[in-house]
Amino acid sequence: MNSKTVASSRTVMTELVMPNDTNPLGDLMGGNLMRWMDIAAGICAARHCEAHAVTASVDHVSFRRPIHLGNVLTITASVTCAFNTSIEIFIKVATGNVTQGDMHVSNHAYMTFVALDPYTHKPKTVPKVKPETEQEIKLCDGAARRRELRLMLAGRMEVKDAVEIKAMFLETED
Ligand SMILES: CC(C)(COP(=O)(O)OP(=O)(O)OC[C@H]1O[C@@H](n2cnc3c(N)ncnc32)[C@H](O)[C@@H]1OP(=O)(O)O)[C@@H](O)C(=O)NCCC(=O)NCCS
Repeated sequence: MNSKTVASSRTVMTELVMPNDTNPLGDLMGGNLMRWMDIAAGICAARHCEAHAVTASVDHVSFRRPIHLGNVLTITASVTCAFNTSIEIFIKVATGNVTQGDMHVSNHAYMTFVALDPYTHKPKTVPKVKPETEQEIKLCDGAARRRELRLMLAGRMEVKDAVEIKAMFLETED
């Protein structure tokens, strides 16, 4: 299976915060933002995998600043690394005033998607990622460690099997 560039599946989604998206203080509800992040990341994952992909996990999502009614937000989803049947997606959210063009990063997160075979709906192998820019290479380099950490937290990997994380702390014997 051929490897694919990050740019080939990068997904950019723009939304305007409307009254129905906000809490009683007039700021965007966190759940609405996470839904949009999930949609952008899901499109990015499907583009890379050339198959439908389901959300397997969402890593820590932080909310650095409130996003107000009438703000515009841009969600950028980029694949960082492909494993076997799963891929990691990095999502960055920038928000600002639509008339002033002052966009600031307000959130980011990592999500993991699993590609499914269209007939059996079982996990299927995904194309590898070919990082090109300095930032893409950096994000790719940390992906295996993040994967081990999230699988351990989900109870799907034992500490003894987390080779990437162990290598950060243990001296090698040679
Ligand atoms: C994600 C899902 C397809 C995994 O199925 P499974 O039978 O457990 O499959 P496997 O054990 O073979 O794992 C498949 C891949 O999922 C990854 N995975 C499973 N759980 C994971 C988790 N919590 N976090 C990150 N990756 C996970 C595995 O690491 C594996 O990746 P790899 O092949 O690249 O190594 C299955 O759990 C599922 O369908 N979950 C529901 C998805 C969904 O409905 N999402 C929307 C939620 S609202």
